[in-house]
Amino acid sequence: MKRGDALNKPTPLVLDLPSWALTDTALKLEFPYDNPLTVEGAALGRRLFHEKALSADGSLSCASCHVQRFAFSDPRTRSMGMGGTMGERNAPAIQNVAWDHFFFWDARALSIELQAFAPVTGHAEMGSNWNKVAERLRRIPAYPPLFAAAFGDGAIDSMRVAFALAQFERTMISLSSRFDRYFHEGDSTALALSEKRGKDLFFTRANCADCHSPPLFKGHEVQNIGLDSIPVDLGMGGRTHIAWHMGRFKTPSLRNIAATAPYMHDGRFATLEQVVDFYADDVNTNSPTLDVHMQPWVNGEVRLSIQDRADLVAFLKTLTDEDSSPTRVMDRRSEPHDDL
Ligand code: HEC
Ligand code: HEC
Repeated sequence: MKRGDALNKPTPLVLDLPSWALTDTALKLEFPYDNPLTVEGAALGRRLFHEKALSADGSLSCASCHVQRFAFSDPRTRSMGMGGTMGERNAPAIQNVAWDHFFFWDARALSIELQAFAPVTGHAEMGSNWNKVAERLRRIPAYPPLFAAAFGDGAIDSMRVAFALAQFERTMISLSSRFDRYFHEGDSTALALSEKRGKDLFFTRANCADCHSPPLFKGHEVQNIGLDSIPVDLGMGGRTHIAWHMGRFKTPSLRNIAATAPYMHDGRFATLEQVVDFYADDVNTNSPTLDVHMQPWVNGEVRLSIQDRADLVAFLKTLTDEDSSPTRVMDRRSEPHDDL
């Protein structure tokens, strides 16, 4: 080792955003001052994301439930955790988290760093404990130098693991869909007729964009869309015990939605057609905590014909990222190997 190597700072990582996104004020990037994004930190995070030593019996990594070709979501209705424990909820996609304000369906983690602490110890997830995990990682010869490259010295603790995971997750950017080509890059041929009709519906009569707003196709909200008149899973209310929060869930992004079935916090809908049919026919407008943005449904104003529904689904499918290079959310060519 050269003298002074320990002082080497990791290399700042600049996220590769499409040019339209650089000037969009909704996409201004702010990183936590104590966990800046670096090449070495994100690379370590990528490896840790696929590291099964993070789970109690070495059988699960984050990637077991957040699968890259499904935009880091889980195609199973509910995820299977340690020892076959069934989770309560569907694992959401992980994408564009650099702009997210809170995490989990019930919004219980206020940063992606804090989020990353949870699954390792969660019984329905990896069922381990942090002392054990840190000790295991210390014994894997590859890790101390990777932690040194990312954080300046080779010490391994839970905070550094969470910080590296957070850095990797912030690189999961998805802003390159056919919709973006059409809307932001002025390519009028990027959408077919039915998709354009669906887009117009989405932004007007169907009221979808009031909550799933571009450019991220989500709001930073926790809302009740009237899935049930009496919710089984209380969502945010289950955590806060505040009546007004009952049945409220984090508003998901609709980017890559064609790849992230099944849908809703409990994975109750298998297809986008079922989701659109729900919004057309089955919204429980009597739910006491129904979101104010659902007022058009209460007023009976949202009427969608068979053609409208097909057009909406066609439009939703244009939100799939087409950039499938290995560092992108929608890498379809291969799963990263566990021994990356
Ligand atoms: C056993 C399956 C499983 C494993 C393993 C797992 N997760 Fe998850 N993950 C889930 C489920 C289920 C949820 C939703 C839980 C909820 O909201 O209550 C979730 C939620 C998340 C979210 C929140 C996304 C959002 O938009 O709010 C992030 C980020 C995340 N997981 C990252 C990770 C990381 C990092 C790891 C590894 C340290 C990991 N997960 C391991 C199943 C899993
Ligand atoms: C009041 C705000 C609101 C409106 C209006 C709204 N949504 Fe949603 N949407 C949500 C929330 C919140 C969820 C998550 C609900 C849950 O899982 O409990 C969701 C879930 C979804 C999902 C499933 C996402 C996933 O990852 O599982 C799709 C697809 C969807 N909405 C499409 C639409 C379409 C199409 C419209 C217009 C017809 C629409 N939404 C109108 C707030 C809204």
